[in-house]
Amino acid sequence: MDNVNERLEALKKTLNQYAYEYYVLDQPSVPDSEYDRLLNELIQLESEHPEWITPDSPTQRVGGEPLKGFSKVVHRSPMLSLGNAFNEQDLREFDRRVRQAVGERVAYVCELKIDGLAVSLTYENGQFVLGATRGDGTTGEDITTNLKTIRSIPLVLKEPVSVEVRGEAYMPKRSFVSLNEQREENGEALFANPRNAAAGSLRQLDPRITASRNLDIFLYALGEGYPQHIEAHSEGLKWMQSIGLRTNPEWERCESVEEVMAFIEKWTVGRPNLPYEIDGIVIKVDDLHQQQELGFTAKSPRWAIAYKFPAEEVVTVLEDIELNVGRTGVVTPTAVLTPVQVAGTTVKRASLHNEDLIREKDIRIGDSVVIKKAGDIIPEVVNVLTDRRTGNEAPFSMPETCPECGSKLVRIEGEVALRCLNPKCPAQIREGLIHFVSRNAMNIDGLGEKVITALFENNLIEDVADLYKLTFDQLIQLERMGEKSVNNLLEAIQASKENSLERLLVGLGIRFVGEKAARTLAAHFGSMDALAEASEEALLEVEEIGEKMADSLVTYFKSDEVQDLLGELKELGVNMVYKGQAVDATLIEDSPFLNKTVVLTGKLEQLSRKEAEEAIGRLGGKVTSSVSKKTDLVIAGEEAGSKLTKAESLGIEIWTEAQLMEALM
Ligand code: IVH
Repeated sequence: MDNVNERLEALKKTLNQYAYEYYVLDQPSVPDSEYDRLLNELIQLESEHPEWITPDSPTQRVGGEPLKGFSKVVHRSPMLSLGNAFNEQDLREFDRRVRQAVGERVAYVCELKIDGLAVSLTYENGQFVLGATRGDGTTGEDITTNLKTIRSIPLVLKEPVSVEVRGEAYMPKRSFVSLNEQREENGEALFANPRNAAAGSLRQLDPRITASRNLDIFLYALGEGYPQHIEAHSEGLKWMQSIGLRTNPEWERCESVEEVMAFIEKWTVGRPNLPYEIDGIVIKVDDLHQQQELGFTAKSPRWAIAYKFPAEEVVTVLEDIELNVGRTGVVTPTAVLTPVQVAGTTVKRASLHNEDLIREKDIRIGDSVVIKKAGDIIPEVVNVLTDRRTGNEAPFSMPETCPECGSKLVRIEGEVALRCLNPKCPAQIREGLIHFVSRNAMNIDGLGEKVITALFENNLIEDVADLYKLTFDQLIQLERMGEKSVNNLLEAIQASKENSLERLLVGLGIRFVGEKAARTLAAHFGSMDALAEASEEALLEVEEIGEKMADSLVTYFKSDEVQDLLGELKELGVNMVYKGQAVDATLIEDSPFLNKTVVLTGKLEQLSRKEAEEAIGRLGGKVTSSVSKKTDLVIAGEEAGSKLTKAESLGIEIWTEAQLMEALM
């Protein structure tokens, strides 16, 4: 017996050592076949003596059954984020503040900013006992079983220490590419980038899926419990490495901003050659006493900063300038571009905002232009490459009349925009309809820009009331509309009648009335009738309602056309009262559901679907039936299926029923 036990222990030790050499050091000392041979022996012995299986056995990386949900973990100290620097000046400012606080002798450690997911690992007596996501910084989720599938996370450290360490879990570029190739083959939704893929993989309830995703980790910070003798961050990195934790080797100690800039320069150039994505450089004060002296702000440490790489810029050709008439009649020029890849997506258009901007940048049709994504999201034209001009480029000027209805365009004093003032302008009506159904207004699922445009062009709708008169026979005629989508759409339109008043107010697009004002007005007046009858004085008495808005509301409700429209909507059964009275306004402000689009899937046990929908609605959220890019949150009950899978692939936040219950309490 004892012999078997000894053999078990020896096998585990050897296998863990081999795994460490392979995954952490990237220096295997034995061929894979030798590892496999020993692993098989271990599996065999453990199957004969299951009572001797320990959590640190390499056979225990891929846990058994899928979890029902993730439980919450309160971090022993908050997991903070970092302040940002975008250029040398920001860094000099940071350096100046640091030196002012702790004196001239400061050294920094520069590290790569890995683009993944922050996680915390807790070891007790050298054993890996808990792994958690960052969550909101205070509370994360217990993802221990998933983290165990990452082979470079040691299940046992080389020393029996009790310590918390933090780092970044990520998906290497190569794994990302092959994962997406495989998903494409299977007809599954693709991940937008390695970061989303890593996040989606760690939120899997089934650790076997996580295991198949080839995640990896770099540890970059010490948490509670590190040894007293460590006095600098750089010593901490070395110590973590010495006890078997994987740290990123590319860090350097820098004694001046110049050295920091040189490190940044080196990695700005070297970045494409790394096998993983980085989105910047982290600069940390090395001396831990100095770190302590500097302390923290509410959100981030004063002793560290993240330098963010500038947005990727690419060159393409501006093929044409298109004009779009918005809901309020503003005419916006849009650049039509030769499609190019920028920061992970194909860009075909970019707003040029107004004529002044086109003139300032001297943008001509046919120009080669530099584009980037502002804030990494919205495409914009940075500048024109004038030295590439051939002489065939055509200067652009705004037309004098509306491109949609032909009425004269007007430049309102003090505004840069040109406006079409014709209230019957079809473009304005179409845009108004698109706004009405949009997410923050009536939020009608399945009614996007394309369907609205098709309905409008086929003369099936002229105003928002017409939406509620649409029939199956009309919708089925539209291109690409099958029976199922028509029925879903009709159901969604029907359901939107029940929306609380503020959504309708937003949807109507009354000038100056945004989401926040709509909520305030709805809560204050309670019904459309009361609001429509309110005098300017009565409106001004409401907190946060100023003269411009009060004026606009009175004018709006005075119009006969508006009165007719509201009468018609009411007749069609559209709700005109505020449904959130029961809710304390402060409750709504802290609500995790405020303005969020939520999808419920799977079986809920503690409350009915209807109850859940109502509760989320009371807290300012909207429940819809299908998962899309617009979904903010998916709540997955028992036996959740394809919706959950889709949410995971889109990197959407996923909650268990327990989390829902907690949020509702
Ligand atoms: S240090 C107290 N070092 O960037 C802050 N963070 O906005 C400790 N990150 O949430 C963070 N690489 O997820 C640090 N070498 C690195 C990092 C790094 C990536 C992430 C981390 C953090 C975010 C900061």
